[in-house]
Amino acid sequence: MLGTDLMACCRKKNLNVYGYDLPEFDITDAPSLKKIVSASSCIVNCAAYTNVDRAEQEEPLAAQINGHSVGVLARLAGGADIPVVHISTDFVFDGMQDRPYLETDLPNPINAYGRSKLEGEKQLAAAGCRYCILRVEWTYGRAGVNFVKKILEAAQTRPVLKVVDDQIGSPTAVKEIAAVIGQILERKEFPEGIFHLAAAGYTSRYEMARFIGRIKGIHTPIEPCKTADFPSPAKRPLNSRFNCSKIETLLGKKMKSWQESLTEFLEQL
Ligand SMILES: NC(=O)c1ccc[n+]([C@@H]2O[C@H](COP(=O)([O-])OP(=O)(O)OC[C@H]3O[C@@H](n4cnc5c(N)ncnc54)[C@H](OP(=O)(O)O)[C@@H]3O)[C@@H](O)[C@H]2O)c1
Repeated sequence: MLGTDLMACCRKKNLNVYGYDLPEFDITDAPSLKKIVSASSCIVNCAAYTNVDRAEQEEPLAAQINGHSVGVLARLAGGADIPVVHISTDFVFDGMQDRPYLETDLPNPINAYGRSKLEGEKQLAAAGCRYCILRVEWTYGRAGVNFVKKILEAAQTRPVLKVVDDQIGSPTAVKEIAAVIGQILERKEFPEGIFHLAAAGYTSRYEMARFIGRIKGIHTPIEPCKTADFPSPAKRPLNSRFNCSKIETLLGKKMKSWQESLTEFLEQL
């Protein structure tokens, strides 16, 4: 999902970029990684094992893709002094904090996917390479599976939609994340460290679904429910709110509100 919009954004900016994806490129294949790193001046790693529920049963595979392979990449990049932009997630936190998360808050993942992504962050930090970790959340975009598409599809087939109102976060368009990465790639100085990146403002999944319904003129009733009513293999953090002051200071601008970006996206669908 993100990779598709990032390639489009970089091409628009006339940046000299190459995109690699399965099946021709597998991040767990060290020789392929080595070839790519040696031909690059900067790496953006959007590859990940992203099926949160399936990761509960496939934790070794998730850990290999999101943890171990990120370490291999980071060590290769460090050896060649090539900076790495890496994408991480709100799922490194347990969601128990009663305020938006800061980059300095202690991670404590509550599911296998979150543990694998945190391992990737640790591997990057330990490798001694220059890295910029962008933690993102509640993403949606043209390509790939996401909450917005799931709501639109479910509204066609179900008489009533039940959506949780106790998970709070910031719906974030991958187009906006791609634009930030584009700006990072154009900077003279590579920004190092961890940055929280999300659209401005917060909402619940339920309110987000109602917003989608209003913009798209959906008449299917949407009703609130609780996360506990929908047991899933992987636990979800209830609070995914990010404090994004650090990235906003770096960029010298505020992020767009989630309502503005989501409206743009829905109108273009
Ligand atoms: N989606 C969200 O809500 C969300 C939230 C927070 C953070 N993130 C993070 O955002 C980043 C981008 O994810 P996304 O949302 O764009 O999800 P995505 O659409 O699932 O993108 C992940 C990409 O990685 C590829 N991939 C999987 N295993 C690979 C391997 N072994 N080698 C090379 N590529 C592999 C996938 O290919 P296949 O499709 O063929 O498997 C897919 O193209 C990830 O780091 C993810 O953890 C996502």
